[in-house]
Amino acid sequence: MEKTILVTGGAGYIGSHTCVELLESGYQVVVIDNLSNSSAEALERVFTISGKKPIFIEGDVRNRALLDKIFVDFPIDAVIHFAGLKAVGESCQMPLAYYDNNINSTLTLCQAMEQAGVKNLVFSSSATVYGDPETLPLTEDMPLSATNPYGRSKLIIEEMLRDLPEADAITQSATPWAVILLRYFNPVGAHKTGLIGEDPKDIPNNLMPFIAQVAVKRREYLSIYGDDYDTIDGTGVRDYIHVVDLAKGHVCAVENLLGSSPITGVDAINLGSGDGVSVLQMVSTFAEINQIPVPYQIAPRRSGDIAACYANACKAKKLLNWQTQLSVTDMVKDTWHWQSKNPMGYTV
Ligand code: NAD
Ligand code: UD1
Repeated sequence: MEKTILVTGGAGYIGSHTCVELLESGYQVVVIDNLSNSSAEALERVFTISGKKPIFIEGDVRNRALLDKIFVDFPIDAVIHFAGLKAVGESCQMPLAYYDNNINSTLTLCQAMEQAGVKNLVFSSSATVYGDPETLPLTEDMPLSATNPYGRSKLIIEEMLRDLPEADAITQSATPWAVILLRYFNPVGAHKTGLIGEDPKDIPNNLMPFIAQVAVKRREYLSIYGDDYDTIDGTGVRDYIHVVDLAKGHVCAVENLLGSSPITGVDAINLGSGDGVSVLQMVSTFAEINQIPVPYQIAPRRSGDIAACYANACKAKKLLNWQTQLSVTDMVKDTWHWQSKNPMGYTV
């Protein structure tokens, strides 16, 4: 029988791409999203791409009564929890909103899951939980820390989730928790159809959507934050991952949880390519592959930034049989396809 996955935040950037991959893999998908940072249009386009409709419930994950109703109404087998706020700078200005949204949504979701006896969870964590790392590449067992409220909310949630299997052991629960913490590196790109992609509401904080908006002439130039880091060309190095590869990683995580030998308890897994790419390399690849100029200026370092960050991606290969398939060329091509087809994002 078709398995049913509840996807919180499924109208968002990573959520919408994951809905496509789940539907195309034969899962039934139920989305809950309050549309605070997304558009219902994204789910219409998920339907256009996959030919299957996710069931959409507009609402907040902190609404316990609504969650309880969803677990009664649908035979949910596992949950992917994307819903949350994600802007680092904003989290420094409004930490309470971040702790409320990110932590309370996870708390409410887990309470509802426990009551419903559905204890398979994939959680959106982030490479930000490694703080300012001393060595690279990053493996999952490295020390964790947070440098801002957003990162701290992810760290607190990871720790909170780790308590759940401990409780199962004490109570000898017949349906124990199985939780995969996916630590994403830098998601970029868009679906190859150009129908869904990243649609930041305000001025983009992240590199790739900023490059795309400069290329489409919504912004004059890109500021490159620092060219004096100890890296290949002085600019920051990151592990960029195509959002479709990332979405497929979620399908692999769900397959693990619902398969014959699932992980037990809580396990953290990096989703990255394992390769570091500098800001200048990304800008020149974008310009070259898409044959479009990307004017830039060197600016001072951005506070809170680190020089370099990339994953050791072996655990994902071993446990989930997953690895990235798409290249930096695919990332810049698909970003431009989406941006040029939808210069104002989902707003028409
Ligand atoms: P996004 O903002 O596009 O998607 C999040 C979705 O959740 C949005 O559709 C928003 O409307 C919804 N939402 C927020 N709070 C909600 C609530 N309380 N109830 C219901 N819906 C709510 O962000 P994204 O880039 O798709 O990120 C998804 C998850 O992945 C987030 O948890 C984010 O922290 C994490 N993550 C993202 C990145 C990244 O670079 N995009 C990197 C690491 C981790
Ligand atoms: C940011 C978040 C991090 C989050 C990650 C993925 C911060 C401090 N950190 O990380 O918590 O997990 O996104 O969503 O915001 N850059 C420019 N000009 C720009 C934008 C970025 O030069 O206009 C540079 C940055 O200095 C960095 C690289 O591009 O070297 C990538 O930046 P960004 O896309 O913001 O991601 P991270 O800083 O890795």
